[in-house]
Amino acid sequence: MQAVDFADGKLRLVDQRELPQAVRYLEIESAPEARDAIRDMAVRGAPAIGLAAAYAMALAAREAAEAADPGARLRMLADMIAQARPTAVNLLHEVEVVLDLLTGSPAGWYEAALGHAEAMKAGQRLEDEALAQNALPLFRPGMRVLTHCNTGALATGGLGTAFAAISLAHQQLGLTEVLADETRPRLQGARLTAFELGQAGVPHRVIVDGAAAYCMAQGLVDLVIVGADRIGSDGRTANKIGTYGLAVLAKHHGIPFAVVAPRSSCDPLWPGAREVEIEQRDPREVLEFMGQRVASAGSDALNPAFDVTPGDLVTAIVREDGLFRPPYAF
Ligand code: MRU
Repeated sequence: MQAVDFADGKLRLVDQRELPQAVRYLEIESAPEARDAIRDMAVRGAPAIGLAAAYAMALAAREAAEAADPGARLRMLADMIAQARPTAVNLLHEVEVVLDLLTGSPAGWYEAALGHAEAMKAGQRLEDEALAQNALPLFRPGMRVLTHCNTGALATGGLGTAFAAISLAHQQLGLTEVLADETRPRLQGARLTAFELGQAGVPHRVIVDGAAAYCMAQGLVDLVIVGADRIGSDGRTANKIGTYGLAVLAKHHGIPFAVVAPRSSCDPLWPGAREVEIEQRDPREVLEFMGQRVASAGSDALNPAFDVTPGDLVTAIVREDGLFRPPYAF
């Protein structure tokens, strides 16, 4: 299943909101539609968002080239795409890279932007293979591994980050079990990671997020391994809400806590020159379940989508260029 694709002038996305119950594709012809798909999480996961943003910029370039003031229209559409979701640096990064590419005549913008997105897609698998290889020293035969959110092929458009590492480790060493946090409120763990682990033949069970401490105390976890939406210069890691809690729990139980992410998820300007914005999503994601209100009528919800784990709680960061230990200096 190719999470992010492009054919006949259209961006083609697996609608991840429907998985695993249904496999449906969205066909997107304009930058505003692409922005909506990213914002509403039809496509999600930092590298996949980056790839979708690169294609969205190609759609923006095509539209802008026809406008009375192509430069102004392109900047307006680029800002709109960049603001779809604020936390994954891959999104911002791709918008900036494509803008830098589009310096010549507007007539050549679409081909230039599309060429960049296609090259990115073609390189994704190799990048993810390198991540998985570099993460292999973290694993031992028979290990029990806990992961959070979804970091598989759906999240990168290739093989995945932490997920690809888990999958390779199982093939080469044999893991006893993977515990997949269900990952409230969007259930990326229960819906997407469990689906991908099943397809990869990795033994696994889904746990509620609140069961992680119990599982660690029971000796059911030898390694926690997750992805990242943004890694700061000192190794601080923004990732799906709940990740920080897992890192604190892992330290308490003496369990290694590793992050696997490509260099495109690293933000050397953070902290200092740039701060990370933690996305705050619709309270209804917390107050409702499958469209039905479950929280008490009249109650509101706080719904931060990400948290930040300090670098000193991260025992290893794996990128396509190697495995790093603290202190980090990216
Ligand atoms: O809100 P999401 O589903 O986009 O959040 C995704 C995550 O937090 C992932 O762990 C992260 O993007 C890494 S994906 C390889």
